[in-house]
Amino acid sequence: VGGKILSVSKSELAKHNKRTDAWLAIRGTVYNVTQYMDFHPGGVDELVRGIGTDATKLFSEIHAWVNYESILQKCVVGRLVNEELFKL
Ligand code: HEM
Repeated sequence: VGGKILSVSKSELAKHNKRTDAWLAIRGTVYNVTQYMDFHPGGVDELVRGIGTDATKLFSEIHAWVNYESILQKCVVGRLVNEELFKL
């Protein structure tokens, strides 16, 4: 989108857990997968299992070889950061 990289807490990430507003994190990077949803070869129902969460483990268990960084380069929202930083 605008190219701005946001710092995203786990609780902020968790708000984007809907089919029409879908974010997930993989290895510290947060992606907006709302547009990708319909193109996911594993289907919408599978991808939905990971949204609103750090999906690193799910992703790696199923297809660690998939080049998500390339596929989702236009979908980067920002970095997943420690919740504690927001409580200071
Ligand atoms: C298949 C991409 C997240 C479940 C695939 C394939 C790609 C892909 C490219 C085809 C792999 C192949 O044929 O070798 C992505 C990307 C993701 C993502 C870019 C990051 C957002 C997930 C998540 C889940 C999931 C979070 C489950 C919770 C699956 C499953 C298949 C699959 C089950 C296998 C489909 C089949 O065997 O026909 N995905 N995926 N994916 N994906 Fe994902």
